[in-house]
Amino acid sequence: MKLNPTLFKSGLIPLLVLINAGTCWAAASLSPSSQSITGVAGSTVTSKTITGTGFTGAITYTVATALPNGLSINNSTGVISGIPSIAQKSTSYTIAASDGTATASTKVSIAVNPALAPSSQSINIVLGNSLTTTALTGAGFVTAPSFSVSPGLVNGLSLNTATGVISGNPASTLATTTYTITGSDGTFKATAQTKITVSPPPPAISPASQTIDGISRGTTVNGVFTGTNVNTTPFSASNFGGSVSYSITPALPDGLSINPTTGVISGIAKVPKLAAGYTIIAKGATSGNATATLYLNITDNCIPETLDSASEGRRAYLRLNCQSCHGDSGLGGMGPKIIGQNNVGERVTIGSSSRGMPAFKDYICGNDIKNMNTYLYNLEHGPTPPSFKHWWEANPSQ
Ligand code: HEC
Repeated sequence: MKLNPTLFKSGLIPLLVLINAGTCWAAASLSPSSQSITGVAGSTVTSKTITGTGFTGAITYTVATALPNGLSINNSTGVISGIPSIAQKSTSYTIAASDGTATASTKVSIAVNPALAPSSQSINIVLGNSLTTTALTGAGFVTAPSFSVSPGLVNGLSLNTATGVISGNPASTLATTTYTITGSDGTFKATAQTKITVSPPPPAISPASQTIDGISRGTTVNGVFTGTNVNTTPFSASNFGGSVSYSITPALPDGLSINPTTGVISGIAKVPKLAAGYTIIAKGATSGNATATLYLNITDNCIPETLDSASEGRRAYLRLNCQSCHGDSGLGGMGPKIIGQNNVGERVTIGSSSRGMPAFKDYICGNDIKNMNTYLYNLEHGPTPPSFKHWWEANPSQ
């Protein structure tokens, strides 16, 4: 549009310019115009950033009344921050902004709640033990808080209302339960959570380990060879469902067995087994299993061979008590005459159960068979073997 000079003269144009410039004079303002903050004693609080509109210079923000303990205002941003230390109900503060010419204000409501530490804890115990939770420390309370708990404690547990500690010796198991503990000074409240679990004790057998220390070849009694007679302690079992049965792994050496109802290991240790570990497994008929350990050390008492084969054969003949059936010099007794034999291995090893000759496989030492062959053969064919009276003698007795 072409400007008509007569409009200038009439003063209409300058008036429009003035009206336009007038918008710059509108009152300054702050955004947000109000806000509210709920802080927690001991934790950082920060208000929203404030934006000023309609200011021309740098803005300075101030609060006329004292802010909650621990909080302060940043004079150039208007942000209130800090760590409040004392609880208070919601209180309104006015933030005033000024650039020296324009002014504006905005409201901030600040409430501060107290806090409890630790804010949560959890405690797991096995029935039969007592528990004590950590004492609660209050922050921001006006006076020392007193504590209450919800839901109510049962089962032998109680709350110390001055410290917030739950303690006691639970009378029964308890599935994980969350208790809310409230601390209150009459005006302000804070809560903390405590989880408690009381588990059933695990199944167990006692003693946890046993040892068998024995000798595989004992002396003979009436022609019967005795190794070490073994009898372990019966186990006592607790916290199993139903009756308990026992087994062992790996399999026990010859002569020993486990009683499935008591766990007792008994028998006569016949074969050497050096320092071996076994696991006894206990199983409840309906629930539970536990293990214990058995250390077994069955040594071999074969005497070292130090003499000639015929002499050792004589000693083995006596040690194995062959004379009780075959006579002192093999001429026979309850059993047949056996002098002159030089192939006794099979008969001695497996015996003859139907005719009263025992099996010696678990009792023969190193060269026993070979030596007894020499001895029995020489008894008939010479040379005359030495005469020992007892198997443990080192020199032939006369
Ligand atoms: C408890 C008694 C008894 C003892 C101990 C015994 N024997 Fe015998 N033995 C017999 C009897 C009984 C027979 C006969 C078995 C048969 O005919 O089946 C026999 C058979 C034998 C025979 C076979 C004889 C043959 O002519 O057929 C030999 C060899 C023998 N015994 C060696 C021994 C030796 C070596 C020992 C010691 C390690 C020994 N016996 C210990 C009772 C015994």
